[in-house]
Amino acid sequence: MSESNTTNTLRWEGETDGKLIMIDQTLLPVEFKEIECPDVDAVWEAIKMLRVRGAPAIGIAAGYGVCVGLQTVDSSDAAAVRSRIDEVCDYLATSRPTAVNLFWALDRMRRIANGLPADTDGPAVVARMLEEARAIDSEDRELCRAIGRHGQELLENGSGVLTHCNAGGLATADYGTALAVFFAAQEVGKQLHVYADETRPLLQGARLTAWELQNRGIECTLICDNMAAQVMKEGRIQAVVTGADRIAANGDAANKIGTYGVAVLAKHHGIPFYVAAPYSTFDFSLSSGDDIPIEIRDPKEVTHGFGRQTGPDGIDVYNPAFDVTPAELITAIITDRGVVRPPYVENLSDVREAAA
Ligand code: MRU
Repeated sequence: MSESNTTNTLRWEGETDGKLIMIDQTLLPVEFKEIECPDVDAVWEAIKMLRVRGAPAIGIAAGYGVCVGLQTVDSSDAAAVRSRIDEVCDYLATSRPTAVNLFWALDRMRRIANGLPADTDGPAVVARMLEEARAIDSEDRELCRAIGRHGQELLENGSGVLTHCNAGGLATADYGTALAVFFAAQEVGKQLHVYADETRPLLQGARLTAWELQNRGIECTLICDNMAAQVMKEGRIQAVVTGADRIAANGDAANKIGTYGVAVLAKHHGIPFYVAAPYSTFDFSLSSGDDIPIEIRDPKEVTHGFGRQTGPDGIDVYNPAFDVTPAELITAIITDRGVVRPPYVENLSDVREAAA
């Protein structure tokens, strides 16, 4: 944690010949270590292996990834610079399929490059790319604070709230989406008790969310994913807030595997279920969540997680990393533009405008 009490998930040091530095989130909470990504392969690997993860953070990493990729090109050759931008964008887009922020950031970088006058010299194109990557990063800080401001109004002082996965500072530039709501509530003096689902198989809830909340002095209780129903039944939860990786035009929201189940449980127990996300997480090209690509990950994450084998050799494993919560289970979507309630197709028009 820095002095400003936020987590700088990743940062660019220096100018166009500078460095992309990020927290290696796979090592938390045991070890806090920052790593440098010296080339584009390292950026791709960091995204793929979840050293940097969480939809907005992946987008920011991709923006800076373009700048890393430009360091191997002769910048006096403007055509080579432009073709390298396309090449790097295409490559980074293959790292993970679900979080739309990745594609949103890469499209934005490409659009800016393509919008520069044809006679722009190579160094100017490179400089403009770094400027845009930095803009994506600093904009995310603002978006997350706006989400926090809007979302905290939904939570009563003294509430128990549940979250799934990690949608905190580590998943964004520095403040989070779902956790921004809790941070902002704390900042206006509300006392919350957060229940963090551990989030099998990669334990983002246990390793990252619990760590972030503890660092901020927010009361947190860690539970296994299969305890959420009992905890709700005991009356400990007054609201659920999660992040999202991609939200379709009708409000269907993809998020970490297990989120859909939590939403079903919340519905059964009459608990409001909120999704918090910036405009960059919306994909208005998809009319419903049925078309959101779901990442399928290595079976070993299920059978060999964290140091020991937990399934028999040769067992068949299915390991989807995300699921889609249908809009009808979502009480409201907390966006940087405000809190949006159903019907989403109509009521998301402000967000749609921002995303256009
Ligand atoms: O596989 P991960 O750890 O990248 O999954 C992250 C999530 O599902 C988050 O909840 C989502 O990206 C929102 S982050 C603000």
